[in-house]
Amino acid sequence: MQQNINLSTIVEPLLAWYEQNKRPLPWREAPDPYHVWLSEIMLQQTRIEAVIPYYERFLQACPTVCALAEIEDDKLMKLWEGLGYYSRARNLKKAAGVMVERYGGQLPADYEALLSLPGIGAYTAGAIASIAFGLPEPAVDGNVLRVITRLCADEDDVMKQTTRSRVSDRLRMIYPSEPDRAAAMTQALMELGEQVCIPNGAPRCQSCPLGATCLARAKGLTDVIPHRAPKKSRRIQQRTVFLLLHEGKVALRRREDKGLLSGLWEFPGEECHLDEAQAADLLEEKGIRCSRIRPLADAVHIFTHVEWHMKGYAIHCREVPWESDLVFVTPQEIRRQYALPTAFRAFARALEAMEEKDAP
Ligand code: ADE
Repeated sequence: MQQNINLSTIVEPLLAWYEQNKRPLPWREAPDPYHVWLSEIMLQQTRIEAVIPYYERFLQACPTVCALAEIEDDKLMKLWEGLGYYSRARNLKKAAGVMVERYGGQLPADYEALLSLPGIGAYTAGAIASIAFGLPEPAVDGNVLRVITRLCADEDDVMKQTTRSRVSDRLRMIYPSEPDRAAAMTQALMELGEQVCIPNGAPRCQSCPLGATCLARAKGLTDVIPHRAPKKSRRIQQRTVFLLLHEGKVALRRREDKGLLSGLWEFPGEECHLDEAQAADLLEEKGIRCSRIRPLADAVHIFTHVEWHMKGYAIHCREVPWESDLVFVTPQEIRRQYALPTAFRAFARALEAMEEKDAP
């Protein structure tokens, strides 16, 4: 259980530390609510250094909320390719549509209004409200949870909503009311969690501006806080992936509209492991006549709740059926316009290696 600590004493040393230590990130240069929103959504799944090129490319293609509301779905998926969690990109577009309809293409400067938009939860609403609009709303992500639970020696499970809400409530009470300082407060807490009170490995307590206040440090509890109850194990799903090659092209098909990676492109395949002979028989049944079949290296992709354990085959096809859900595209078209989820990266690389080998 958390201890009583007066968190208001952290505000001044934390803001002073942030002024000296903040990194020059593109969305910090001239904060624009749209830029802040986009960066926060991207940062939910990927490290800062990896996000920057995605962020810049996205803003070039979609410089305004109105442009985002109108972007074609396939183009949007291509811009998001590699970031994962594609529903986040779809929600960005949906929320942009609402902003165009209701708020003249702007983000609303109000926590509750932000929270009501698709894809914007308590964390993102707090981050946009404080960073972009200077409102005294905390944004509790994993970094902030770590910093605050350590400061308070709070040993409760940080995956529980009650722990997050308590951290958020305690922070709301000490948020500065001046817009610039509220904006800095959110980013300072995150930055401290990323640079000092770090997620992996020992925290850098010697460099911490809050070291004198930190109860976890005083009690030697930094290695057990933040506490996380053990996770449920992931379901393992076996798959076989086919690179169906025909006249310099490879087959793709669109995934169903529901479920994991819905609506995205994939290499066709089956939800089980097949050996070479079984793969050839199955394709023959579907009217695909193979001239050569070659196994590819196995691959594993880990999602939040499931792991795909994949076998793969490169299959040269003599004949392919006219009527099917397959589209045959060149590797260059895949690179340019088809969003292929990272789960298939190993096979996309195998395809590229074949292309290089065949190049004149
Ligand atoms: N992580 C998520 N959002 C961030 C931000 N605005 N600054 C630093 N780290 C972050």
